[in-house]
Amino acid sequence: MSVQRLAVIGLGLIGGSFARAVRKAGAVREVVGYDADPARVAAALELGVATVAAASLEEAVREADVVLLSVPVLQTREVLSQLASYLRPDAILTDVGSTKVSVEQDVAAVFGALPARFVGGHPVAGNEKSGVEASFAELFQGRRCILTPHAHQDPAALATVRGLWEAAGSLVCEMSAEHHDEVLAATSHLPHVLAFALVDFLNTLDSRKEIFAYAAGGFRDFTRIASSSPKMWQDITRANRSAVLGALDGYLGELHKLRDAITQDDGPAILEIYTRARDARERYLELVERPAAAKKP
Ligand SMILES: NC(=O)c1ccc[n+]([C@@H]2O[C@H](COP(=O)([O-])OP(=O)(O)OC[C@H]3O[C@@H](n4cnc5c(N)ncnc54)[C@H](O)[C@@H]3O)[C@@H](O)[C@H]2O)c1
Repeated sequence: MSVQRLAVIGLGLIGGSFARAVRKAGAVREVVGYDADPARVAAALELGVATVAAASLEEAVREADVVLLSVPVLQTREVLSQLASYLRPDAILTDVGSTKVSVEQDVAAVFGALPARFVGGHPVAGNEKSGVEASFAELFQGRRCILTPHAHQDPAALATVRGLWEAAGSLVCEMSAEHHDEVLAATSHLPHVLAFALVDFLNTLDSRKEIFAYAAGGFRDFTRIASSSPKMWQDITRANRSAVLGALDGYLGELHKLRDAITQDDGPAILEIYTRARDARERYLELVERPAAAKKP
């Protein structure tokens, strides 16, 4: 499969890495790059992420076969409303947003309904860095990419987007936008909320200098994601508000259970929670790492 012209709107970690990956795989001939920040467009051209620099959204999308939206999720509606009239009628529109219901709502608001050639997507890959300079072609290798086909989905558009992610090395799966947001609220959005909250809390303590100075492996592991872009996570938290609140309430209930066990010095109850959690984590890791390992050469 080969796409002639891909437009990437938002030349950050994800858009940049996708452009690099599909070009490296030979799945795309030309990449037109556009970003609200002209310095990012210049950097993308210099780094070889994009082959053509676009000075406007119109220039970026008017001849594109596939348009990939990779901007912060709360920018979706604004960007789409600016580019919608320049899209070719046969162009495929897709995105990488970390929330899917809000993106579907934005797309439907701009186009009147979800267009058949819109394919929602979310690569479950990334790191705490941002910007095109941090992008690399291997980011999606062996990682899952969730596509969220909708009721009026054009199967050919879905197949093209699936093919691009597979060319980028992803393990593609499909689910509804609603289910995606529930699952990701628990596995990704909640951990980010907790990491930001934990570091923010520790930073208020008088002993914070020692806490940060002596914090070894566990603390670094647990709080790595608090180095993620605050702006991007503000958007994700707000865009998936009700699912994040549901996960957060469940977690607060669990914390209260643990707090009660600690208050009562109830050793068996503490051990039971820790053991159940350890076993679940091992099962979970086996589940996600097995398909990734199987894909490696
Ligand atoms: N970083 C991750 O771990 C990760 C993983 C999966 C999905 N995502 C999703 O990918 C998308 C991009 O994230 P990223 O990590 O690449 O962020 P990033 O900050 O690295 O890049 C975002 C880019 O979008 C540009 N931008 C912002 N507003 C714009 C606008 N109105 N018009 C044009 N360009 C605009 C910014 O200048 C920036 O270059 C987000 O929707 C995010 O939810 C991120």
